[in-house]
Amino acid sequence: LASQEKDLDPFALVADDLDVVTQRIRDYVINEVPILSNAADYFFRAGVEGKRLRPTVLLLMASALSVVVPPGEVASAAFADNLRLRQQRIAEVTEMIHVASLLHDDVIDKATTRRGVGALNMVMGNKVAILAGDFLLARASIRLANLHNTEVVELLSTVIDHLVKGEVMQLTSSPESLLSFEHYTEKTFYKTASLFAHSLKAVAILGGHSAETVAHSYAYGNHLGLAFQLVDDVLDFTSSSGLLGKPALNDLQSGLATAPVLYAAEEFPALVPMIKRKFKNDGDVQQAELWVHKSQGIQRTRDLARYHCELAAASVHALPPAESERQEECRRALLQLTDKVLAEAR
Ligand code: FPP
Ligand code: MG
Ligand code: MG
Repeated sequence: LASQEKDLDPFALVADDLDVVTQRIRDYVINEVPILSNAADYFFRAGVEGKRLRPTVLLLMASALSVVVPPGEVASAAFADNLRLRQQRIAEVTEMIHVASLLHDDVIDKATTRRGVGALNMVMGNKVAILAGDFLLARASIRLANLHNTEVVELLSTVIDHLVKGEVMQLTSSPESLLSFEHYTEKTFYKTASLFAHSLKAVAILGGHSAETVAHSYAYGNHLGLAFQLVDDVLDFTSSSGLLGKPALNDLQSGLATAPVLYAAEEFPALVPMIKRKFKNDGDVQQAELWVHKSQGIQRTRDLARYHCELAAASVHALPPAESERQEECRRALLQLTDKVLAEAR
């Protein structure tokens, strides 16, 4: 089994679905206004589409669960195909919401690069970048409403609400809250984990699954999302700009104290005033970086990410027994993704 898992590539397993999802997004964002089409399409073009982690996770979960045929329906290939189409739609809408949030985030952060190319705000200006984000959200809302499932609409709308909440928490934190690990964790849930958790819940709900299965799907997304962000926060200290496709040490430079710094402050209390003043005195960023590397901060953050990956894996193990080889394989891929997330943090 171990060698089997090594050969398993989660992204390859749903490669055909991913292509379908990406092509449909490209089709939806065509607009009578060419500048809007170009701008909205910018991060969906070949080579700039990113890892597509969110759609991959959603498609894998869809395939990891059995098809539940509701009373009154006939179990048929047509029923299964239609369900698949609806679950793919969640992947499409989720990726569109994610990219919309990145377009707005890059305006707020005055980012110059994203996914290894010029950020859209740099290429086309802030106004077009903001409108392109709004347009993506609008098109995503139409596609979502078309599913005629108000619970699912509520889930994905909650994601947008949380993205905004997380961003505002980050913009307006008081000096005291900047030191709080609880505040950091809450912000991380709103900014990153909520999207994984709620969209995975939507996939399980469309599939007609039990409350327990829906809860396991949500929990997998929540813990994977938290781990993913913790690893991202480690990479800000350990990776280079070239590898990241965006500037390294970006968090410190933006005044953000993430898990590695918060842990480091327990060993180097002189970090506390620096965190409170958002590293804005000369030399703060360099001194903070030094102390983070001298401390256990990076290791403790990796350990916390590992803990969340274990909880994500436990949610997969808690699903009702798989009923086909394909389901088994997709579950192994979901487990493998937790390992891949952790492996990135080295
Ligand atoms: C990236 O964070 C940003 C987010 C995860 C969310 C941004 C949310 C908004 C701008 C609110 C508006 C939301 C929508 C849906 C339009 P980062 O700056 O820490 O990461 P980065 O290094 O990738 O830029
Ligand atoms: Mg940013
Ligand atoms: Mg930001």
